[in-house]
Formats: sequence, C-alpha cells, structure tokens
Amino acid sequence: MNDDFSFNLWRYDGTPGELIPLLQSAQNHFGYIPRRAINYISAVTGIPESEVYGVITFYSQFRLRPMGKYVIRACDGTACHVSGAEMIIETIQDELGVEVGETTEDGLFTLNTVACIGCCSLAPVIMINEDTHGSLTPASVRKIIRRYRRNEKASNEDFAAQK
Ligand code: FES
Repeated sequence: MNDDFSFNLWRYDGTPGELIPLLQSAQNHFGYIPRRAINYISAVTGIPESEVYGVITFYSQFRLRPMGKYVIRACDGTACHVSGAEMIIETIQDELGVEVGETTEDGLFTLNTVACIGCCSLAPVIMINEDTHGSLTPASVRKIIRRYRRNEKASNEDFAAQK
C-alpha cells in the first residue's frame, strides 16, 4: 500500500475524529473497505476492530463490499418519483434480487438511488455506469438489465473462445 491510504494511516497521531478521513481514504483506494484495511487501521491506531467496524456500519457512505461492475443509479427525485420511480426501483430489486445499496452475488450490479441526475424531462430515469436510460416502464427496465446480462455473458464466452 503506497498511496494516500498508507500515508494517512502512518501519520495518524491519535487526534480524535481522524478515523473518518482514514476510512474515506481506504475506501477511495480499494473502492470499499476490505477486512485487511480494518486490520491495518486497528493495528496502527489502537482503535479496536469492533469500534472501526461500528463506525463503518453507522455511516451509509462506507461500503464493506466492492461495487458491482455495473452501478445502477436509480433516480428518486421529485420528477422521477411522480413518474413512477418507486415501481422502477421495485422492478430492479426484483430483477436483481437485491435491495438498494446492495450488490448482486455475481458482483455484476450494484443498485443505488440518487436524488436527481439532471435529466428530469426523461423521468423516470436510471443511469448504469455512464449511460442514461429514460422514460422507463417496469418492462423496459427489465429488458435493459437483461441486455446488460446477455452482453456480459456473450463477452465472457468470446473471451473463453479466444483462449
Ligand atoms: S428527478 Fe429524476 S432526473 Fe431529475
């Protein structure tokens, strides 16, 4: 570890309130806070692992698992909400078998909600990584997710065939 995380970790001087920035730099580095980062933090700071873990689970900004390859940001802002965002989000949960904030078992999708993604005229809207999908219905959002799955499967098969 030769980055901001190690730098912040090793210069820790016991000042109260430094745990949060340490956790933030761990998450920036790894994309989530892995077990080994909790071990390092606890060993260097002397803060018991259970306490570090307690802080991580208290704040919703911290993740204990990596994000999926495709991060779905389902808008639940006002315009999307009145256009059926709740049904869209329920459909995504049902299609993926996860709740908001969770990642599918295969590590492919993470579902999050956001307040507004700035294209209210297309409500209800989701983003999958950098791609925007708007004017959604429960049927169309299922189709979109299944297309991502199919494309993923096809590219894995292509990769396997090239070996
Ligand atoms: S409220 Fe959904 S994009 Fe603005």
